[in-house]
Amino acid sequence: MSNTGELGYLFDWVESVQVKVRELVGEWKDREGNLIMILHAIQNEFGYVPRGVANELAKELGISLARIYEVITFYHYFRLVPPGQHNVQVCTGTACYLKGSSELIEELEKRLGVTEGEALPDSEFHLETVRCIGCCGMAPAIVIDGETHGRLCQKDVAGILENQRRGKRV
Ligand code: FES
Repeated sequence: MSNTGELGYLFDWVESVQVKVRELVGEWKDREGNLIMILHAIQNEFGYVPRGVANELAKELGISLARIYEVITFYHYFRLVPPGQHNVQVCTGTACYLKGSSELIEELEKRLGVTEGEALPDSEFHLETVRCIGCCGMAPAIVIDGETHGRLCQKDVAGILENQRRGKRV
């Protein structure tokens, strides 16, 4: 790709971000809790909250970038870097907790080399905990890229990750 092409792509991206942010701000401007709702919409759109988008949002809302980062970092839900190629969610609801979700987290952290909740740029997997996912009969359960795996123990983790890496469903 030529420089002109790359720059052109960048300008298009910036312009599309400005349009998107203006649209969201227009929709939410006068509503209570608008910053959080807009950040949710941004994360749904991009998979995380890119700095350039946060900057644009600060301008449109007339608030400081620091205020936006205060909210993003307060809520565990928001990401500052793109999610991993695979998203691993471990249920820590009561049933899963009682049946060993902590051991699953420990095993996943060990095998993936990431800490739960930590968002590393370019990491293949993103690991996070979630509350009851509605499959308590399958406790302890995890969800990888939208696919639920239940009644797991530590020794099942390696196989599931391997299958996921190869793009196979278990
Ligand atoms: S507590 Fe884990 S699925 Fe309900």
